Amino acid sequence: MEKIRILAIVGSLRKGSLNRQLALAAKELVGERADFKLLEYGDIPLMNQDIEFPPPDAVKRVRDEVKSADAVWFFTPEYNHFFPGVLKNLIDWLSRPISNKERAILAGKPAAISGISPGMSGTVTAQDHLVTLISFLNMDVMNAPRLTIPYAMQQTDNQGKLVLNEISQPDLEKQVNAFMDFVGGRMR
Ligand SMILES: Cc1cc2nc3c(=O)[nH]c(=O)nc-3n(C[C@H](O)[C@H](O)[C@H](O)COP(=O)(O)O)c2cc1C
Repeated sequence: MEKIRILAIVGSLRKGSLNRQLALAAKELVGERADFKLLEYGDIPLMNQDIEFPPPDAVKRVRDEVKSADAVWFFTPEYNHFFPGVLKNLIDWLSRPISNKERAILAGKPAAISGISPGMSGTVTAQDHLVTLISFLNMDVMNAPRLTIPYAMQQTDNQGKLVLNEISQPDLEKQVNAFMDFVGGRMR
């Protein structure tokens, strides 16, 4: 049987992103159980219906990557109690049907959500907004467990490297295992 393909979408474009590092920690834990890839989408333009058809090359590329994934895992920061605009922009592009024949590519796709922030909320409010959006787009959301990691600065070394603590690390492991089961169950 082919390996499950998980596509991680990080809602931060910054190189040292904690959420990107969290995605890489999840990839490490997934190990050989799945192909786990991070989507690079920093080059897609702002949604503008004047340039929607034909879609820009960068948009075509991310659409193809999302289409060929069995599942999507969002790792999102919280910006002003919301998820970042770059992520909304990406999802807006992905939400549009490519042609009359092809259905919306996010619909039915299993999805998980995680996030880490320096504050006490651990991105929970941003995640709630993201759930609303991806549920509207009919993604198959794993609502439990979701992973919200607060107080990120107590879990970084002096180079900004993420070092998950004794609470966050097992929580991430639990979510990895739960999502593998969630996705695997839908592919049987
Ligand atoms: C515009 C903006 C708004 C922010 N708002 C929040 C917020 O509402 N809650 C929070 O916990 N952190 C907030 N932060 C801090 C981010 O959580 C922090 O910069 C985090 O490291 C960003 O995620 P990243 O490391 O993955 O890039 C905000 C940062 C920016 C740039």
